[in-house]
Amino acid sequence: MDLAERFLPAQVRGFQPRGAAGALRVELMREAMSLDDVINFNSGDLDFTAPPPVVEAAVEAIREGRTRYAHGGLPELRAAVARKLALDNGVTVDPDTQVIITNGAAEASTVVFQSLLAPGDEVLTTDPYYGGHVGAILTARGVPVFVPTGKEDAWEVDPNEVERRITVRTKAFICANPGNPTGVVLREQTLKRLLEVAHERNIILVFDELFERYVYGGLRHISAASFEGAGNRVITINGFSKSYCMTGWRLGWIAAPSWLAGHLAKMRYAISMVSPTASQWAALAALSEAARSYYERIYWILDERRIGFFGAVTRMGLPQQVPNGTYIGLLDVKPLGLSAIDVTRVFLREARVLVSPGSDFGTQAAGTVRIGLVHPAATLQEATRRLEPVVSRLLQAAGGA
Ligand SMILES: Cc1ncc(COP(=O)(O)O)c(C=O)c1O
Repeated sequence: MDLAERFLPAQVRGFQPRGAAGALRVELMREAMSLDDVINFNSGDLDFTAPPPVVEAAVEAIREGRTRYAHGGLPELRAAVARKLALDNGVTVDPDTQVIITNGAAEASTVVFQSLLAPGDEVLTTDPYYGGHVGAILTARGVPVFVPTGKEDAWEVDPNEVERRITVRTKAFICANPGNPTGVVLREQTLKRLLEVAHERNIILVFDELFERYVYGGLRHISAASFEGAGNRVITINGFSKSYCMTGWRLGWIAAPSWLAGHLAKMRYAISMVSPTASQWAALAALSEAARSYYERIYWILDERRIGFFGAVTRMGLPQQVPNGTYIGLLDVKPLGLSAIDVTRVFLREARVLVSPGSDFGTQAAGTVRIGLVHPAATLQEATRRLEPVVSRLLQAAGGA
């Protein structure tokens, strides 16, 4: 007897959190690991770690034994998150009842969809999408419904396209703002229209603002939860991984409407009870004045990387839009005349540069590859030096075809 068939429901056996392309990505990753000296752009994990005041806060907490369960999240951290939301985002929440500390933004979206969805409920998200959101919808037995976005609109979602896809089963719309993999930064008018749609069609909006500090190009990050009338409709997810260089510390938060927050807190407790206490003391320091200058310096370094790298690729004869948000983006590789999977393979084999094929992130990202600028300038220069002859050869072959 096939034990997997006997014991696992079909949706678990067939579960592919990153879509069909996941298997191919695994194969390419395996190949990359067997090669020497690969420059890996296939990651969103920055090369920076948390600054000394953050590390010291964790070490001190461990030394002093402040490491027991922090049920409901450390009150000091919840208060600091609420303060940050008020000051940086214009979002007012009660720290005691509306801030839920989670194990990263990943768990935050899981908690949200485990709470909101009955099996078969639909959740709208963008295409290209962030795979973790789709995974959270699927594990809650929900159905992701994709709203196409395009390069010609700088990958910004059209709220009317969201509205067109709402059915009686639709519970929510989720997206990352700033976006992963596209780097899109949603404009005020788009957010306002999404909120109108949410009110008119009775759905919830979930914004994952994990990259909120990395917004460039004269734009600014706007939290939809700050708008008048957003209080009951908007869930904000955020965390310390990206904006505070704390990926492995596993801390995030949900800021939720008051009618919902208590239910999310129960679900969060049922899933994993509490978050690591030492990480919470560290996160408190990350939100403090002592860490500010370190994070500001990183902001400007990432700005240089973004402009430098996308500019270098453009100068290779492969024109690119520079993303306005995050340190992640999609390179348009259509002019190379190969599928994104083949481009990924050629970049790996000929340039020892590992990227992710856009097909990992939805149908609209076909013809692109995703890159995470998680390396210092010298490594990025080396990557462009290696890519240049490969791109040039492919462009010539495509032009001559
Ligand atoms: C948009 C987005 N949301 C959530 C996550 C998960 O982050 P965390 O480490 O906070 O769980 C990631 C990680 O890459 C991400 O890019």
